[in-house]
Amino acid sequence: MTKPHFYITTPIYYVNDKPHIGHAYTTIACDVMARFKRLDGFDVKFLTGVDEHGQKVYQTAHKAGITPQALADKVSVNFREMNRLLDITEDQFIRTTEPFHQKAAQALWQKMADAGDIYLGKYAGWYSVRDEAFFSEDELTKDAAGNKTAPTGAPVEWMEEESYFFKLSAWGDRLLDFYEKHPDFIQPSYRKNEVVSFVKSGLRDLSISRTTFDWGVPVPGDEKHVMYVWVDALTNYISAIGYPNTDSDGFKNFWPADVHVVGKDILRFHAIYWPAFLMSAGLPAPKRVYAHGWWMAEGQKMSKSIGNVISPEYMVGKYGVEASRYFLLREVTFGNDGDFSHTAMVNRINAELANNLGNLVQRTLSMIAKNCEGKVPQPGILEDADRELLQKAGQQMLVEVRDQFEKLQFSRAIEEFISVANAANLYIDAQAPWKLKKTDPARMATVLYVLAETIRNLGIIIQPFTPNAAQKILDQVAVGAHERNFSFIGEAHGLKAGTPLPAPSGAFPRIVDENAEEAKTA
Ligand code: MSP
Repeated sequence: MTKPHFYITTPIYYVNDKPHIGHAYTTIACDVMARFKRLDGFDVKFLTGVDEHGQKVYQTAHKAGITPQALADKVSVNFREMNRLLDITEDQFIRTTEPFHQKAAQALWQKMADAGDIYLGKYAGWYSVRDEAFFSEDELTKDAAGNKTAPTGAPVEWMEEESYFFKLSAWGDRLLDFYEKHPDFIQPSYRKNEVVSFVKSGLRDLSISRTTFDWGVPVPGDEKHVMYVWVDALTNYISAIGYPNTDSDGFKNFWPADVHVVGKDILRFHAIYWPAFLMSAGLPAPKRVYAHGWWMAEGQKMSKSIGNVISPEYMVGKYGVEASRYFLLREVTFGNDGDFSHTAMVNRINAELANNLGNLVQRTLSMIAKNCEGKVPQPGILEDADRELLQKAGQQMLVEVRDQFEKLQFSRAIEEFISVANAANLYIDAQAPWKLKKTDPARMATVLYVLAETIRNLGIIIQPFTPNAAQKILDQVAVGAHERNFSFIGEAHGLKAGTPLPAPSGAFPRIVDENAEEAKTA
């Protein structure tokens, strides 16, 4: 039986700067989703990579006294290393300087030109290099010094040059029609309004080439122009799967993409320009664009000048990869903004991973080691409380978690399995197996069996978020490597009584709160 396909992408990151937790966030979210879908029986393509062209990268390289290619070579390695640090399982890491990608961008351009959507003109207007975006006069504001700035606060410069244009103005009605026919295209749904009203306010033709620098993909047939970096960058989503060969397996299996995950800052490019380019070239638009929020640090916007930018190395060095992945997806509802704080991290990890899940595993497995000869206990007849917990931790949990994943609601998915761990902890307290040891050892064995089963199911479901801890847990209940996908969740694949178990060891360490320790000793 062929597996259903699932294609998920991160934005490709500019190589002008080092990775920070904002980049890590998008990539981790996509990784968790990709892992979830693989475990749920899908053939997944998970794409990420770097955006290497454009004026911003060109200027950064120039300032550093190196070529843009040398800068891209160096910084792209940092992004790849970030992925290894965070246990990211991308299927492909694309670089827009790769020749196959550049050919694909030229092919897409040619299709749009053939469709009559590209013309040569002259651009005169405002440009923000930091955003790599054009702004109209009425979108600009002024900073404290009275300089014009983009809505993001970035400086703008006046630009006047010969440029090719994409006839975006002709696409407004077709885009509105598309949004109406595909109500789930833009998510979360509250972000849809801002896109729709922008389109309704009237789209202007988009300048899509530059002549004042040469760091980009040459425009086919007119090589003194390079493509506007967003035309080049967006194409990565199809070049990676074989475009312009639309008959290739990659393209046939994976296009249209299931979801492009992006930060809210770049929704406009993905929800307006990208579907217009694709439709112009005769290609279907992606199924969904999901815009997530922004991270701040200790209540402040992260910025180099404040010096509060949190790097993935810092985060993982201090808290470990599992806690970092978990925290970022747990702490805020996907879509909203978040605040990275030490206190929030310590509280979250200690309450949910160490005390709740970790304790459940620790308590249960050490009782089994001590009282059941270190083997999976033999259950007797099940009582209502046993059946209830097994059901909650079985298919029911999978259905509910899956439902949240369909909506990219990672924090809600976590709530679902944390509530199962809570229920299991309450069950231990109510059943008090340590007392049963003397009074009714057969009943004790049943209770410990139900708990071990609950732990097996939890170990399977948490894999996307905390893959290493999940592995440790599953090893401890002797679940084979081929019995760890979601089809093994539930009673039909329960643990076999008598299976020897390895000696228990903790899976979720507590975070020592240095601040609190300091306060105590002060
Ligand atoms: N190169 C473009 C994207 C092209 S996609 C075809 C770009 N790159 S970027 O390096 O600026 O990265 C932008 C993405 O990084 C955001 O959309 C978001 O996914 C992530 N983040 C960057 N800073 C962030 C925060 N402070 N918080 C959360 N995510 C943010 O735009």
